[in-house]
Amino acid sequence: GALRGERRNPLLSQPPCVEVNVRPEFGRTPAAKDAAREAVFIREFERADEEEALRIFHEGIMERIPNTAFRGIWQQPRTQFLYALLTVMCFFVTKSVTLTCCAPLILMGARYYYSRKVIQSYLDCALHTDMADIEAYYMRPTGSCFWVAVLDGRVVGIVAAQGHEDDNTVELRRMSVDSRYRGKGIAKALGRRVLEYAVRNNYTAVVLGTTAVKLAAHKLYESLGFHRTSQSEDYRLPGMSRSPLERLFFQIRHSRYRLQLREE
Ligand SMILES: CC(C)(COP(=O)(O)OP(=O)(O)OC[C@H]1O[C@@H](n2cnc3c(N)ncnc32)[C@H](O)[C@@H]1OP(=O)(O)O)[C@@H](O)C(=O)NCCC(=O)NCCS
Repeated sequence: GALRGERRNPLLSQPPCVEVNVRPEFGRTPAAKDAAREAVFIREFERADEEEALRIFHEGIMERIPNTAFRGIWQQPRTQFLYALLTVMCFFVTKSVTLTCCAPLILMGARYYYSRKVIQSYLDCALHTDMADIEAYYMRPTGSCFWVAVLDGRVVGIVAAQGHEDDNTVELRRMSVDSRYRGKGIAKALGRRVLEYAVRNNYTAVVLGTTAVKLAAHKLYESLGFHRTSQSEDYRLPGMSRSPLERLFFQIRHSRYRLQLREE
């Protein structure tokens, strides 16, 4: 019969577990024979996974704080110009070389402070909505699902799918892999699981939005076959106040991706 979270085609059953060898290159070299046995399982979320799933989600969001504050500035030429202007103004106002040298540090400190403020309230928002009860939000309703990647009996990655009936798309959400297990193809296996789910349930496309600064997330979605459909510099994260100081010290780029499965 149909599994939880599945819609339509109740006759199309699917295996609850998909085993993916995350290291196909192993086995080619004798030294890595043992590691070939290392395989990740993608399976549906169970209540007992909650703590680990939340930890991975929490850590994935928290690492955005320094990334958005520091790396993010390279994506914001207007802000760079503004900070340079403020530093020069600091010299003319204070006539102090020491204070002027401190200006960039103060600006970076303020960026860190505002990134932490906004991203923590975004996290709070998530922990009070879908992530407050994964089972109730993703597993019980039809048209949504949540999976975990398990390696050596340990949860090492998460991903969610949420169907949107209005435009017949599935949204890929909450993708995150434990930092100790990255670069092994685990996110790709989780992403494929969402694509499979969308195909089985006759959705027309898989969509997602991301504010990730690091290249890894963008490369991941491109390698799964997604195309970027839009990019916005003036995005408002849930939990943002848009006060003038917040605008000065926190900017985020939002990208939307889409993978078309069939003609609409
Ligand atoms: C983004 C993230 C999920 C990737 O997880 P991962 O398991 O390391 O990714 P994979 O090993 O499956 O790699 C998949 C693809 O991503 C790309 N990629 C992964 N890590 C990369 C890196 N450090 N630099 C550049 N590209 C990278 C590669 O294109 C790779 O495909 P390929 O092996 O065919 O070249 C992980 O870094 C993460 O959890 N980050 C924090 C949370 C987050 O940002 N989530 C995304 C929210 S939208």
